[in-house]
Amino acid sequence: MTRIDILTVVPRLLDGPFADSIVQRGVEKGHVEIHVHNIRDWSTDKHKKVDDVPFGGSAGMVMTIQPIADAIAELKAQRDYAEIIYLTPDGERLSQPLVNQLSIAGNLILLAGHYKGVDQRVRDHFITREISIGDYVLSGGELAAAVLTDAIVRLIPGVIGDEMSALTDSFQDGLLAPPVYTRPAVYGDWEVPEVLRSGDHAKVRAWEEEQALERTQARRPDLLEE
Ligand code: ADE
Repeated sequence: MTRIDILTVVPRLLDGPFADSIVQRGVEKGHVEIHVHNIRDWSTDKHKKVDDVPFGGSAGMVMTIQPIADAIAELKAQRDYAEIIYLTPDGERLSQPLVNQLSIAGNLILLAGHYKGVDQRVRDHFITREISIGDYVLSGGELAAAVLTDAIVRLIPGVIGDEMSALTDSFQDGLLAPPVYTRPAVYGDWEVPEVLRSGDHAKVRAWEEEQALERTQARRPDLLEE
C-alpha cells in the first residue's frame, strides 16, 4: 500500500481535502494511507519554535532545519520512502506524466514550506525532488501538497471504480478530454449530439477523438506541439 506523509506547520489546512470523495474512498478501501504531521511536534526548542530570522538580514522568517530533520529521520526509520518532495514555486512544474510516475513510485514524504521557505540545507540534504503546482505563489505549500496528493491518489489502482475513467482524463493521451453529456437528451432547444445517442460505438469513439483534438487545438495548441 502507498503511504503519503505530509509535514506542515499548519496541519489544519489539510483537514478538509482528504475527508471526502475519491481520496477518502481510497483511504477507506485501504489503497492509500495519508498522514498529516505537525512539524512543531519535533521541535526541541522550549517554545516549540519552527522558524527563525534569515542570515543576511532580509525580511520574513525561515523554517529551521532541526524539527524537519528529526521528523524525516523518524519516518525513514519506520519504512522506506521513494521520494521526499518539497512543494515550492521554484520547483519542477507538476504535470500529468509526473503524477503518473509518482502514483507508482511508492511511499512519499511531502514537505510543505511556509514563511520564506525552509533552510537551504533541508533542500540540499533531505529533499529528492522539488515540485511547483504552477507559476503563482501560494501562502504555503499545504494546498500544493493537497493538489499533488489528490492527483496521485486517484491514479492508484482500485481507487477509482471505473478503471477506464482515469485513463480517459484530459492530458492522459496528451489531449484535452472531449465534451460529455447526460440525460435528458433534449433540454428546451438544446440537444445532445445525435452521434452519442446512435449506439454505434465506433462512431462515438471517432467523434470523441475528433472533439478532443479540436478542443486541444482551440484551447491548448501548445500540447499538440509537444
Ligand atoms: N508554495 C507556494 N507556492 C507554491 C506553488 N505554486 N507550488 C508549490 N508550492 C508552493
